[in-house]
Amino acid sequence: MNESSEGSHYAEVIDHDRNNVWHHLVQHRPFEDVAPMVVVEGKGMRITDANGKEYLDATSGGVWSVNVGYGRERIAKAVYDQLLKMCYYANTAGNVPGALYAEKLVEKMPGMGRVYYSNSGSEANEKVYKMVRQIAAISNGGKKHKIIYRDRDYHGTTIAALSSTGQSERRDQYGPFVPGFVEFPHCCCYRCPFDKEYGSCEIECAKALEDTILKEGPDTVGAVVLEPITAGGGVIVPVPEYFPIISDICKKYEVLLHIDEVVCGLGRTGKWFGHQHFGVKPDMVTMAKGVASGYAAISCTVTTEAVFEKFKADSSDRMHYFRDISTFGGCAGGPAAALENMRIIEEENLLDNVNEMGAYLMELLLQLKEKYQVIGDVRGKGLFAGLELVKDRKTRAPADETLSMRIAAECVAQGVLVGRTNRSFREYNNTLALSPALIATRNDLDEIVGAIDVALARVS
Ligand SMILES: Cc1ncc(COP(=O)(O)O)c(C=O)c1O
Repeated sequence: MNESSEGSHYAEVIDHDRNNVWHHLVQHRPFEDVAPMVVVEGKGMRITDANGKEYLDATSGGVWSVNVGYGRERIAKAVYDQLLKMCYYANTAGNVPGALYAEKLVEKMPGMGRVYYSNSGSEANEKVYKMVRQIAAISNGGKKHKIIYRDRDYHGTTIAALSSTGQSERRDQYGPFVPGFVEFPHCCCYRCPFDKEYGSCEIECAKALEDTILKEGPDTVGAVVLEPITAGGGVIVPVPEYFPIISDICKKYEVLLHIDEVVCGLGRTGKWFGHQHFGVKPDMVTMAKGVASGYAAISCTVTTEAVFEKFKADSSDRMHYFRDISTFGGCAGGPAAALENMRIIEEENLLDNVNEMGAYLMELLLQLKEKYQVIGDVRGKGLFAGLELVKDRKTRAPADETLSMRIAAECVAQGVLVGRTNRSFREYNNTLALSPALIATRNDLDEIVGAIDVALARVS
């Protein structure tokens, strides 16, 4: 295709997209005047749209997914080879990459033993919720079935996953919700729900889990689900004492600990998994986005052997096993992509890069905070950072969501894509989020933060 026929080809594609595709998370009225963005190419940290405009992507695919960057031929090749050889059989049977990946994955997760494949983060979480309910049914007539989740955390789009999500605007208009999910307070020090200051507080945010369990009745609570670092809820890193307290409470009341690593998993924070920064030992871990960096749709629900054993303890009972299936959990292309993705992270020492570049990113962002009063707080770990915007540093009154929208738009105009909390809360859609691919260099980070600097200067 020559350049002009390629241009007209894309003009047609844009028309088809505008006329027939229902995009995620966007109001479509503006597309009557302005064409939606259609992406056509990606290489490393950069993508190109159908109009030929190039962008440096500080979001890893919009929603923190493309951890190893775009255009990885070896992942595409691994998937191609696998699909030709054996594309699919339901996961009632095993397949070669599924077996190899499960072994390699649990090797990175001391204490964990089993991998259950499905297709999305929401689905991976739903599997845990079903496991918790079935364990309750097997052990105590279904009583210990409740699941506690945290304010500001997100666990997915399906109705049960949304029922366990602590983001008011994500939930708004989608009720009624599934019974048995109970909320407890978030752990964002900058907006402490207990009006305390870290250093003089008693980590009330963690202890609140115990209060919630006692209020509900310990014999009714089966599990707690937590993001290791809250992502879409504003990039919230818990203090070091947080998870050990949570873990002790879980042990005390025999409550299973489920960590949702859908965003933090596979290197985003500088360790394989976010919870590994906090020395905590979960019973179940879910992951999705970075598992195959978006080259295939795959998610994993990983459990300890102790959890797994509960589902085979009584083989004389015909109902005593996990009676769940995800049709496309049997797609062998998913684990083939995941295996190659993991090899890339290892061979290119990307965890080291995340730690080094993450420290540099934090330095740049703190300098930016010195310069602009509108930045109230800078948070993050590894290549995962949030800038919370305020009207007034003293009162910490949150900036209106239109500010983060304008800043993101100014960055787009400069060819840089940044993320932001997006209709998650009524008042806290005020955090810019950065999650560049794990391959980011100093130059990339300079360009990203430079664009935000220019954007801030233009809007303030
Ligand atoms: C922490 C977390 N859990 C679960 C999900 C749901 O994943 P998916 O969109 O793949 O269903 C997301 C998605 O953003 C997420 O951020």
